[in-house]
Amino acid sequence: MIKKCLFPAAGYGTRFLPATKAIPKEMLPVLTKPLLQYGVEEALSAGCDTMAIVTGRGKRAIEDHFDISYELEHQIKGTSKEHYLNEIRAIINNCTFSYTRQIEMKGLGHAILTGETLIGHEDSFAVILADDLCDNNEGETVLRQMAHIHKRFPDCCVVAIEEIDKSETNKYGVIAGELIEDNLYKVTDMVEKPAPIDAPSNLAIIGRYILVPEIFDAIRDTKPGRGGEIQITDALLKLALKGKVLAYKFSGKRFDCGSVDGFVEATNYFYKSL
Ligand code: G1P
Repeated sequence: MIKKCLFPAAGYGTRFLPATKAIPKEMLPVLTKPLLQYGVEEALSAGCDTMAIVTGRGKRAIEDHFDISYELEHQIKGTSKEHYLNEIRAIINNCTFSYTRQIEMKGLGHAILTGETLIGHEDSFAVILADDLCDNNEGETVLRQMAHIHKRFPDCCVVAIEEIDKSETNKYGVIAGELIEDNLYKVTDMVEKPAPIDAPSNLAIIGRYILVPEIFDAIRDTKPGRGGEIQITDALLKLALKGKVLAYKFSGKRFDCGSVDGFVEATNYFYKSL
């Protein structure tokens, strides 16, 4: 079972300025719940009980959110509004949080490597990018679906993929692979944000990963790539070439809440399904 989930949460969220000037982008709410809380709930649903969050300067609100606010608890206890706290109380009671800071922004691979100190080398672990918000129509969450696959292939990393319009490949890590069973590919190539003409397919990685501890050495060996940043896609390619990366076409719906359009779409979708 995967027990730990890493949340890279050090980015500046510039696309949401000025909202993200003093508020971490991971704390922006879709309806009444911050993006990061959706991610933590998904990790819990997959069996994780340890949340490792890679933060940065100006992200204190994240730590406060996943902690008890005694004053609030005191004010709300016994009132009709107490139920608003049920979900966050359940989270606080069922998992632990640890934090480390990414001092410089050198890419997603670098953020994951920064989390090594919280994750250790014993077991495989999950990574959730909270701005990819996933819904699963009451079925199993995306990370839980991936955990089932990892259980069957414990030596392999698993990345979640979806089909995208070929014109959008420059926004994602894109894979090429051999179909080994329904919705499951053995990855043979992966490229970070290729131009459509260079893309090996239209299968894009979304922000859900299950990684084996070997990934940390692979990241350490990875030179800066696209955008001068250390890319997790490039580090994963090293393991893919050893046959150790699977790509899983998940069932469910994913919203790109890192963009204003995706955020609005998610808000409307979740509002309609209230
Ligand atoms: C990151 C990854 C990319 C992946 C994407 C999913 O990019 O580098 O491979 O497809 O997340 O959201 P970012 O969106 O952080 O630029």
